[in-house]
Amino acid sequence: AAPQRLHEAMRYACLGGGKRVRALLVYAAGQAVGAATLALDAPACAVELVHAYSLVHDDMPAMDDDDLRRGKPTCHRAFDEATALLTGDALQTLAFQVLCDTGADTSPARRLEMVHTLAMASGSSGMAGGQAIDLAAVGNALDLEQLEHMHRLKTGALIRAGVRLGALASPWADESHMAALDVYASRMGLAFQIQDDILDVESTTEVLGKQQGADAAMDKPTYPSLLGLDESRDRARRLLAGAVSALDVFDDGAPRLRELAEFIVVRNN
Ligand code: IPE
Ligand code: IPE
Ligand code: MG
Ligand code: MG
Ligand code: MG
Repeated sequence: AAPQRLHEAMRYACLGGGKRVRALLVYAAGQAVGAATLALDAPACAVELVHAYSLVHDDMPAMDDDDLRRGKPTCHRAFDEATALLTGDALQTLAFQVLCDTGADTSPARRLEMVHTLAMASGSSGMAGGQAIDLAAVGNALDLEQLEHMHRLKTGALIRAGVRLGALASPWADESHMAALDVYASRMGLAFQIQDDILDVESTTEVLGKQQGADAAMDKPTYPSLLGLDESRDRARRLLAGAVSALDVFDDGAPRLRELAEFIVVRNN
């Protein structure tokens, strides 16, 4: 559909690979609290659309200036900067459109709460806020508390939102479930970015599908640069253990969330 170039770039940015971790978290959290799988499709798509938008903008010259993403040229390289800017804008609004169209079995009140959850996680007190801190921090030494805060916002917020969206899709999720899921998600959100920082140091461009060593080249504050690799790995492991223990309220009822937590910390890309 017209405008073709914009739509082509949108498809390029969100259908060309990616691990889909945030979408998987929506399904895994939803399943843990008995949500219907059909009710999870829209929130799973919505969180991935915001994530895809965040990557398109993150890679642009004014931000991380990267040429490679998911093993292919970044969006502004494959198309052009103006198109990449609009692609991010349009993917972001598409996310909220999709969320409004969410399954008929989700009540209007729940849909509104989903929209609010994703908006809060994406905006200036979530992902975009974290990205602003990241940009302002280049070349400046952050202490551990500041670094953790940045990671919780730029990456943790959307991961938390994914888990909450999944839970909101079930009419049966009670307060204790929601609280346990949030503890899980908050720990895994931080662990996810610590592992991303570690992989930037110790993986290869080929395996990552993005430029290895990009953080050091840009003098980004990261866990390995502040604490070293061993201590960073140790923190990620401890967060994983803490996240999994938060799932005790489900007994054996949250196997996918356990698997995903493990995956987030052992993944190699
Ligand atoms: C990369 O996220 C950016 C961060 C927030 C750390 P992912 O590692 O989930 O990227 P894809 O979606 O799998 O490409
Ligand atoms: C990205 O952090 C966080 C986003 C909100 C996109 P990074 O800049 O470390 O992500 P990569 O390493 O480029 O995927
Ligand atoms: Mg970045
Ligand atoms: Mg980046
Ligand atoms: Mg990174």
